[in-house]
Amino acid sequence: MDLPPPEHTLAFVGTHVRLPTIGELTISSEQGLVLVDSRSGAIAAIVDLASEDEATQAARAHLALLVPAQVTKIRRAQFLMPGFVDGHAHAPQYAFHGTGLDLPLLDWLERYTFPTESKFKDVNYARRIYASAVARHLRYGTTTCAYFGTIHREATEELVRQVRTAGQRAHVGKVSMDRNSPPNYIEPSAEVAAAESALFVSNVLASRAKEEPHGVGVGGKRPALVTPAVIPRFAPSCTPPLMKALGELSRRGDGSGQKLPVHTHLSENASECAWVAEMHPEASCYADVYKRSGLLHERTYFAHCCHCNRTERTLLHEHGAGVVHCAASNFLVGGALCNVRRWLEEGVPVALGTDVSGGWSASMLDAIRQSVITSNLVSRMPDEEQPTRKWKPLSWQETLWLATQGGANVLGLGDVTGGLEPGRQFDALLVDVAPLCGGSFCVFDEDDVLTSLEKFLFTGDDRHIISVYVAGRRVAGASHAAYREHGDAAEAGKEADAVIKNAKTIRERAADENPRPLKMPKAK
Ligand code: GUN
Ligand code: FE
Repeated sequence: MDLPPPEHTLAFVGTHVRLPTIGELTISSEQGLVLVDSRSGAIAAIVDLASEDEATQAARAHLALLVPAQVTKIRRAQFLMPGFVDGHAHAPQYAFHGTGLDLPLLDWLERYTFPTESKFKDVNYARRIYASAVARHLRYGTTTCAYFGTIHREATEELVRQVRTAGQRAHVGKVSMDRNSPPNYIEPSAEVAAAESALFVSNVLASRAKEEPHGVGVGGKRPALVTPAVIPRFAPSCTPPLMKALGELSRRGDGSGQKLPVHTHLSENASECAWVAEMHPEASCYADVYKRSGLLHERTYFAHCCHCNRTERTLLHEHGAGVVHCAASNFLVGGALCNVRRWLEEGVPVALGTDVSGGWSASMLDAIRQSVITSNLVSRMPDEEQPTRKWKPLSWQETLWLATQGGANVLGLGDVTGGLEPGRQFDALLVDVAPLCGGSFCVFDEDDVLTSLEKFLFTGDDRHIISVYVAGRRVAGASHAAYREHGDAAEAGKEADAVIKNAKTIRERAADENPRPLKMPKAK
């Protein structure tokens, strides 16, 4: 066990939840200990102080060297869990989230989406919406988010700045569109569109050292927070020369030998699929359009994928691409269900996405709920492709894994984030199932931690997420300040810290005065 020097250690003592593989969930005792290296943001060790093995003795000795400010005590009714990974969200669409959900995809784009996104030409407007969008995703517990911007490079660079200021981990991409788009929301040519995307990528890479809150590479291995992504909106919006240039851009990579992620939409809606087939008679399927442009590879992930037939699914598998399941928007603008278990069985990694604003909610808790509903429906409906097949629904534990480690894997960040495991970044949520403000559900004395977690996932909200950590830093959490609608996320975070500190004292006082403590049932 390689522990950081005491002065660079943060400790979290109490119950924590881990999801080492899909469907597997373990809960520590109330004496769990997570040690974090504050220089790298990484988890240095995880032990159970109730045990007496050598590693635990070393960790206990280390803990004794820390001052109180370095130690977060996780109280009864609280637990640590991995932060959420949102595999698909449109930051500009946060401007109209929760509205305009009455139309199918192509009409929805024309009526609501393109007019709103065209406004992001104005960087000041972009800054205002993006600050709120990022703050919202973050306080909903999304520690890593894959964001679409708009076609505007400068506004999308502003989105990157907001993400960095807020301290969130993200993939961010400038959207490319040079056909089938309104006159005020289209790029003038494939050449200009490709050059702007290339400039966006190099600007994001070049500004890392200056703009990332603690710098990159501190402590030897702090990974970058923001990774630039290549984003052809979807095949109908991009001419073949533009898609080809974007394929080349992604393959040129970030200078470290790694390709740049490609993030786009695939086979979401029946009319969209028919349109692509008509536009691209040369392609064997929709995904083949991307493949022919060099856009299909192991760092590519596609939102939706509801209508993929076997040929298309095989193509994704052969190229190591991933799927982002966006259950809410599939119900609304998409109009089809995605069979997640089939993708998993066929070896294609799956993430969950909110798809704000085709999906109305920026909360991954909602994405989890809608995914469970979809999966139950899929299991009870006839399967046209395999009429005799009965699909087993996803359990909530499997779905939670998809919302955390599964998402990190799809984004190519599986070694960096997604789980509470030594070596991963400490991207975590401190959940309180009995928060001071009352919260949105009840836990009873007989509810154990597993039940409390399940109740939180299905009936909880951000009032229960009292701290959000990214790379070991507390970047958000429930408080009066965190409910502020607008404004600077970092400032809100500072205020939130003060309120939480105070709240703990109130809680302690209440416990002193009340002989019956808040009861967190025993771990299983
Ligand atoms: N396909 C192309 N653009 C979009 C978008 O903004 N949202 C969704 N859900 N699908 C799309
Ligand atoms: Fe989308």
